[in-house]
Amino acid sequence: MPIKSLSDLFLHTLQDIYFAENLLIKKIPVMASEASSAELKHLFEAHLKETKTHAARLQQVFKLIGEKAEGEECPAIEGIIEEAEELLDEVSDAKTKDAALIAAAQAVEHYEITRYGTLVSWAKQLGHDAAASLLRETLAEEKEADNKLLRLGEDKLNEKAA
Ligand SMILES: [Fe+2]
Repeated sequence: MPIKSLSDLFLHTLQDIYFAENLLIKKIPVMASEASSAELKHLFEAHLKETKTHAARLQQVFKLIGEKAEGEECPAIEGIIEEAEELLDEVSDAKTKDAALIAAAQAVEHYEITRYGTLVSWAKQLGHDAAASLLRETLAEEKEADNKLLRLGEDKLNEKAA
């Protein structure tokens, strides 16, 4: 589909993040199973639930704008995940693996934060107010997930230093 307007670009970006959320629903359980720290496992499990909500919210957004919910392959998120998987294969020590998992998860969150931030602003510009508030809810949850990962990573470092 050629992209000729902000409205087309909005739809394309929704399809991109919808693909990403659905891929994450498959990948987060793998990350949870690789984590050694109970808190990190718990964080992944909690974020999996949120991620399912994010996908459901996107379905609502598609509906609100009168479009079918469908994903469009997103090489950016695939690249972030592929790089993390390659790295994790090479790490044998459990603590270091947890640090690598936190870093990978933060990279994913940052990608999502930038996409949702853009989508909120485009939804407002296009007059899709209900869609904008749904997207804003997800944006807040992605930021909170990123903060929790950051704090957990710092706690782990402090633990090691103590
Ligand atoms: Fe998400």
